Amino acid sequence: MTAVCPDRRCDGSGFVLDETRRIARPCSCRPARLARRKAAAVAGRIPRRYREVSFDREPLPSIERSNPPVVRAVRRYVNSIGERLDEGRGVWFRGDVGTGKTTLAMLISKAAIQADRTVAIYSLPRLLAMLRETYDDDSELSLNGLIDRLCAVELLHIDDVGAEQSSPWVLEQLYTIVNTRYEEDRAIVLTTNLDDTALRAQIGDRTVSRLYEICGDPLALYGEDRRMEADIRMPEASSRSGVEPGWPASAAKAGDDDARSTEVRPRWEPFADPLADDDDDEPLVYGRAPRRPKRGTA
Ligand SMILES: Nc1ncnc2c1ncn2[C@@H]1O[C@H](COP(=O)(O)OP(=O)(O)OP(=O)(O)O)[C@@H](O)[C@H]1O
Ligand SMILES: [Mg+2]
Repeated sequence: MTAVCPDRRCDGSGFVLDETRRIARPCSCRPARLARRKAAAVAGRIPRRYREVSFDREPLPSIERSNPPVVRAVRRYVNSIGERLDEGRGVWFRGDVGTGKTTLAMLISKAAIQADRTVAIYSLPRLLAMLRETYDDDSELSLNGLIDRLCAVELLHIDDVGAEQSSPWVLEQLYTIVNTRYEEDRAIVLTTNLDDTALRAQIGDRTVSRLYEICGDPLALYGEDRRMEADIRMPEASSRSGVEPGWPASAAKAGDDDARSTEVRPRWEPFADPLADDDDDEPLVYGRAPRRPKRGTA
């Protein structure tokens, strides 16, 4: 795709040519261009499971029925996403397992991507592993380089905060990321199963306090774990009829042949393999660290 100058001053290269003096000056669009390039190293896309998420498709109507104020707040955020990101305002979701936190967070990230904003999406365990991996010989980025890039994206989406115990060193790096984004007015979207006390114990008061300032009060989603019923994998074209004894009532409620479940996906495998649909050249970072290209291939 050919780059276009948003200020209509350069040819998209980030430099304005002064023909008479035969020199090139940085264009007014260059800082934003550099920031985007920096962010591109960590920017990712929506994991496949959540790619079709939208307000008018399940499970959103169901989530809205159980938590109307939360979905209303998400709708308001999405409707003014550009403004919210410019102000560095974020959102965080707290609550029980399988209640739609990641779904709603992905809806926000998707809206940000559609608004042409740079977004990095990580589960916290993966993000922390990446911070540790910067010390590997084949790491693409230094620790500072990685943190710098994580702070350059317009929206940092961190999923599953509190899912693992971490060393003080790693938590200090997490603090640095949150604090830098806080100081730079950069938005964060975050999900966690932990309540306030447990979260503070897990990632520290200083980090949590900044999250409150960036995101306001967390949006709470409590209720039954909907994953077991949602993860029933539907048969392509079934020949059997009726619902097998022992399957969840929701399978019967679906009311058509697809209701006959053939497989239940294990709870501990919530996301589709991000490598399985690697059909374009966008970096996949939800669960994968960027790697330094092998010598001679870059
Ligand atoms: N209220 C709901 N109604 C119907 N399906 C739902 C609802 N909430 C979540 N789901 C479905 O349950 C599954 C899990 O949703 P999601 O990943 O958003 O949960 P979560 O709150 O992030 O869970 P966890 O705390 O384990 O990370 C998804 O398949 C989603 O479509
Ligand atoms: Mg989740």
